[in-house]
Amino acid sequence: MNFNNILVNQQENIATITINRPKKLNALNRDTIVELHEAFKTLGKDASVKVIIITGSGDKAFVAGADIAEFSNFSVKDGSKLALKGQKKLFNYIENLSTPVIAAVNGFALGGGLELAMACHFRVASENAKMGLPEVSLGVIPGYGGTQRLPQLVGKGRANEMIMTAGMIDAQKALTIGLVNYVVRQEELVPLCEKLASKISNNSSVAISYAIKAINAGFSSDTDGFKEEIKAFGDCFGTSDFKEGTTAFLEKRKANFE
Ligand code: COA
Repeated sequence: MNFNNILVNQQENIATITINRPKKLNALNRDTIVELHEAFKTLGKDASVKVIIITGSGDKAFVAGADIAEFSNFSVKDGSKLALKGQKKLFNYIENLSTPVIAAVNGFALGGGLELAMACHFRVASENAKMGLPEVSLGVIPGYGGTQRLPQLVGKGRANEMIMTAGMIDAQKALTIGLVNYVVRQEELVPLCEKLASKISNNSSVAISYAIKAINAGFSSDTDGFKEEIKAFGDCFGTSDFKEGTTAFLEKRKANFE
């Protein structure tokens, strides 16, 4: 895959996407969003890819937000189109991808950058990471799902405070409130994500994809998470991974999933 704003590489069954606009602190412009969509679409369909890690290039920023220069003269209509398209093409797309996505937050994750990290299935941060939703300081609100996913992850009161103050929190605070799962030194960030990815990749990809669907169903007003869980649980019994997993257990060997 050849892109101008992102790098994609794969080692065994783990793919890494690196947003590569370090001079602009990896800000998400329109082209980067299109390229990220293409990359997630392609990797999501590739059975050899069991986990995707997304990070930012350089040691300063994951993503410093949506590209402010690009939307500074937008109209009301342009604004709602930007949010709608972005949510559909990238943020909701990642959240609903059947392949697990880990955000390796290696520095500033602000605005659209934090929204991108929050759309991933979970987050790991380096010690220098700083996170926030500064949109109200620019006269807008988060438009890529931030008003929804931040309260889901950290609770309504903390999300209200972060959004209203437009302030940044450091990695330790993010860990304390459950916004990230681990904080490690910068040089340990990608290795830890790879270690977690490798652990995930030993499990059944089909079962993981059903779990993602059931978990997400509980966070949508259109679906019933418990009903989705019952359906997905039942569906597991029709998969070859279920046969392999249970047979391997009974034969006292390690499962070898497809
Ligand atoms: N959109 C567009 N460009 C951005 C950007 C964004 N969200 N964030 C950073 N950049 C650009 C800067 O304009 C600058 O470009 P230039 O060198 O051509 O002038 C470059 O990235 C480096 O940023 P700079 O501000 O010089 O770095 P800093 O270390 O002084 O500050 C931040 C870092 C993250 C605090 C600061 O860049 C910032 O506040 N960015 C905007 C964050 C934001 O509000 N995001 C939400 C958008 S909705």
